Amino acid sequence: MVMQGLFISFEGIDGAGKSTHISALADAFRTQGRAVTLSREPGGTPLAEKLRTLILNDAMDPLTEALLIFAARRDHLTTVIAPALARGEVVLCDRFTDATFAYQGAGRGFDLEVLSKLELWAQDVQGLGHDFVHELGKKGAAAAIVQPDLTVWFDLPPEEAAQRLAGARLPDKFEAQPVAFFRRVAQGYADRMRKDPGRFARINAARAREDVWREVAQVFSSKGWLP
Ligand code: TYD
Repeated sequence: MVMQGLFISFEGIDGAGKSTHISALADAFRTQGRAVTLSREPGGTPLAEKLRTLILNDAMDPLTEALLIFAARRDHLTTVIAPALARGEVVLCDRFTDATFAYQGAGRGFDLEVLSKLELWAQDVQGLGHDFVHELGKKGAAAAIVQPDLTVWFDLPPEEAAQRLAGARLPDKFEAQPVAFFRRVAQGYADRMRKDPGRFARINAARAREDVWREVAQVFSSKGWLP
């Protein structure tokens, strides 16, 4: 049987605790015999990882930041995500475009219409290869742009996330932002979810890790993707 590719992104403010659940999901899919590609944004390719270092550490104007993020995303999409999906793999991606709308848009106040244009350009299915477009077609999606099949949003109050992060490590440019910034970011995620509710699963991340995992696992089994 040919497996259908699955593209899943994971979102949330810094400190929401995505990482352990992403690796547990990778194990769960592999146990089912699925090939899994684990990746992250910004990053996921040699070029995009170089851009990540600049994006997370260097001061720059908001448009420059948005352009670099979407440039990294296009490279990631063309060289890693689309080929993996065309092979029928499960792609688990730590952050994708919702993070740009949440951090650059809601957090920094950058123009959402410009972000929407960049999203259309960077995620255009044209140029992603025949196999990939064929794979998309099997899902019955006449999609002009690539979006995750599912976005798991780990929702946690910013105050709690700040406590979890305190003293954890040297913060990058975004992690160093005040709680008010993350309140806007969380609102940005809520706005993105409101525009495309079918794509999102909102997880209450303000609980013990095992309880959060139970809810995450439940989402995947209710979709028939995991037992
Ligand atoms: P994160 O995903 O939390 O990785 P780590 O666990 O290694 O810190 O860090 C990525 C940071 O980049 C995070 O602060 C959010 C930010 N970011 C944006 O501002 N815009 C984006 O489009 C993406 C993908 C990430």
